[in-house]
Formats: sequence, structure tokens, C-alpha cells
Amino acid sequence: MRTIIEPFRIKSVEPLRQTTREERERYLAQAGYNLFLIDARNILIDLLTDSGTSAMSTEQWAAVMRGDESYAGSESFYRLKKVVDALTGFRHMVPAHQGRAAERILFAVMCKPGHIVPSNTHFDTTRANIEFNGARAVDLPLPEAADTQARLDFKGNMDVAALEALLEKEGAERVPLAMLTVTNNSGGGQPVSLANIEAVKRVCARHGVPLYLDACRFAENAWFIREREPGYQDWTPKRIAQKMFSFADGCTFSAKKDAFANIGGLLCSNDDRVFQQETNLLILTEGFPTYGGLAGRDLDAIAVGLEEVLDPDYLRYRIVSTGYLGRHIADRGVPIVEPPGGHAIYIDAARMLPHIPREQFPGHALAVELYRHAGIRGVEIGSLMFGEAARYELLRLAIPRRVYTQSHIDYVVEAILEVNERKQELRGFEIVDAPPFLRHFSARLRPV
Ligand code: F0G
Repeated sequence: MRTIIEPFRIKSVEPLRQTTREERERYLAQAGYNLFLIDARNILIDLLTDSGTSAMSTEQWAAVMRGDESYAGSESFYRLKKVVDALTGFRHMVPAHQGRAAERILFAVMCKPGHIVPSNTHFDTTRANIEFNGARAVDLPLPEAADTQARLDFKGNMDVAALEALLEKEGAERVPLAMLTVTNNSGGGQPVSLANIEAVKRVCARHGVPLYLDACRFAENAWFIREREPGYQDWTPKRIAQKMFSFADGCTFSAKKDAFANIGGLLCSNDDRVFQQETNLLILTEGFPTYGGLAGRDLDAIAVGLEEVLDPDYLRYRIVSTGYLGRHIADRGVPIVEPPGGHAIYIDAARMLPHIPREQFPGHALAVELYRHAGIRGVEIGSLMFGEAARYELLRLAIPRRVYTQSHIDYVVEAILEVNERKQELRGFEIVDAPPFLRHFSARLRPV
């Protein structure tokens, strides 16, 4: 059979609530045109994020009931550790309440003012946590990736020559670690090849710089490798993931992505001394090292999710269904970051709305219009999120795992094509007020 179906059936449902255009217009005004400030009950299809929004499986809910809530030495921790050990091979692992908590601890231990942390592309919380510790976050994507229309197999790769040049120029002693984000979220959900991970590791090792993976979407990345990188077609996603981790000295992980958990994160490393310092900080703000800010039941849900996410039938469906949304809008004239990524489709709003200058946030203008038109929530990834550091003006439509069916996605396709028909009518936005860090979460805006 050629038709690829959702590899699950639905056991428990959650009703969706329709709203009228007039209601949505009112909610927008009340929220200062910031979609983060709109109540979820007023959203029809929520593509704000794929983070913490997955549907858990029957096995995960069963695991939740097995959770051991002991303060210290919980069975749940050892079940999780066993799975993480087998997958990553890292010597040390601590849980954290989510990805950015792991980042905060990692960078607090490793970064000093004046340090530089290179990555293929840092995610916004990663960048903010590095900069909060006085260090500089530097993105080294492939030069070709600047063209949203270029169809490269591994557009998420790091520019290895640029990494080499940075280490030569700044000196390795100023670079406490390098990172690779797999898949490259801020760069369009694009994968990183095993050859690139290996090449980055080789350069890092030569300079004595540890390499960390921001492994949020490691399984989706592994599937792209299986599909696109010569030599891996017969490998299981798990074996590919193991090989990805084998080149790294540690990782941060948000279990809210490729572990189908609603909360949770991990911090792993091979360095005994770093691990000791991390544990000290963990106890200060997250909790005892065998629960790290989570309940025992969360640890069990993550342990099961980490195995389920590597099921080839699931990953095939996941990547094909994201591509379905991408192709159905791109092939009818809506410019997206090509090729479609793993967890999300990114509309190139700068290209779609050339009449809105970047200071007026074209990606945000599109996000507001899609909500007004059809109750769909996406998120701007551009100048509103990253300020001066933004390289693109995108609207990201992130797809929660195992949550929406193909007819939901058909509705999204129809809405986007309708907005595209009258795109000249869209207007830009200006900021009314905003906080100094991660301003997109709480800024208030008004139409220009
Ligand atoms: N790294 C990457 C690549 C991410 O995408 C995220 C979160 C984090 C780190 C932080 O993890 O949310 O558990 O603290 N990304 C979400 C998103 C929020 O919508 O892309 P967290």
C-alpha cells in the first residue's frame, strides 16, 4: 500500500471549540496582538509548538501509574536511566523540569563572561541562557541555508570551516563547548547529517572543546539520516540515534519533544567534574538528582516515550505528514523553508509579504491573520523573537505529535491558501511594550 496512515487509533478525545471571526478580533485586541497571550480555549488548531503538546500513548499512561514518587532513589529514575544509557551511552544523566532548565545548569557551570558558544543555530532559550551567563552565542549555519528555497538534504548542518576559523581566531580556551541542535529548529527544522556531526566532533576534539547535542528532536533527525544519508537505509532509527550520540560529550534534551512527554528534560555528560557541579546546582533549583524537578510518573512517561519515538512506522508517518502540509501549500504558491522540516513548516513571510518591512514583523502579521481568519495559532520566528540576530522572517506551524489528523491539516492548508489570495491586505505591527529577555512571549503590539 502507498497510503501512509496515522499509526494509531484514538481512544480518548478532546473537543475543539469554534469561535467567530468577531470573537477572535476581540481576543486579539485584548491580547495586544500577541498569540501567546490568547487563551487556549479560543484556539481551534494550535500549531504554536510541538513542545509538551503530544498525545501520550496507552503505554505511557500505564507507566504514569507505575511512577515511584520516592524523594530519593526512585525506581522511575532507574527505569529512565536504563533507557537513556542504552540510547546515548553518556556516563551521567540528570533529569530537569524541561530543556531550558538543563541549559541553564549546563551554561551556569561551563560559561564565563567573554566565552563563546558556537552552534549550527541556537534555539531562543539556549541563546538567552548563554547570554544570561555573560557568554556569546554564535550561529554557524551553512551559507547555502540562507536561501530558504534551496533544497538541501541536510540544511541543518554546521559550517565546519567557519567553526575551525572561529576556534583559530578566538582560541579554544574561550570556547567552553560547541553545540549542534538536531534537528535545527530555528533554521527550519532541518536535519544534521551524521557526516557533519562527525566532522564537527573532529574539529572540536582537535581543539579540546567538548561537543554537546541539543537533542530535542533526535529521533526525527535520525529518520532523515535513514532516508537521505548514503549507507544508513538499513539501519534502525535507534542505531542511527546511538551513533549520533556517540560523537557527543553530552547533551541537553527537552522530553517535551521527541519523548511525547508533557513535561521534562535531561542533561547528560561524560565529564565527572562537570557532572558534580551540575548536580550541586540541580539540587539548589530543580531537586534531588533522582527526580530533578519532575514527578516519578513523569520520568516513567519519558522512559516509555524515548522508546516509542524510535518506531519506524511512527517516524515515517511523522515526517511524511509534516511534508504533506508543506507540499500542499508550497506547490500552490506559498513560499516555505524548503525542504519541509521534521516537526514544523515554516512560511517565509519576508518572501510572501514583501510589502511589510522586517521592522514591522511580517511573520507576526501572518500569524495574526491566520488566527483571525481560521482560529489557527502559529508562531513568528524572526525579528520579533530574535531582534537584530534574526536571519529570516518566518511563521512556524509546529505540529504536535499524534494529535491532529489529516483533515485538521487539510483545514490548515485551505486557510493558508485563502490568506495567500489576499496577502496584499495584510499590515505590519509595532511593539507597544516588551521585556528585555525573550520579548516575544509577553510583548504587546499594535497594527501599524
Ligand atoms: N532547544 C530546542 C532546539 C528547542 O526547540 C527547545 C524548545 C528548547 C531547547 C527548550 O526546551 O521548552 O523544554 O525548555 N522549543 C519549543 C519550541 C519551546 O516551541 O520550539 P524546553
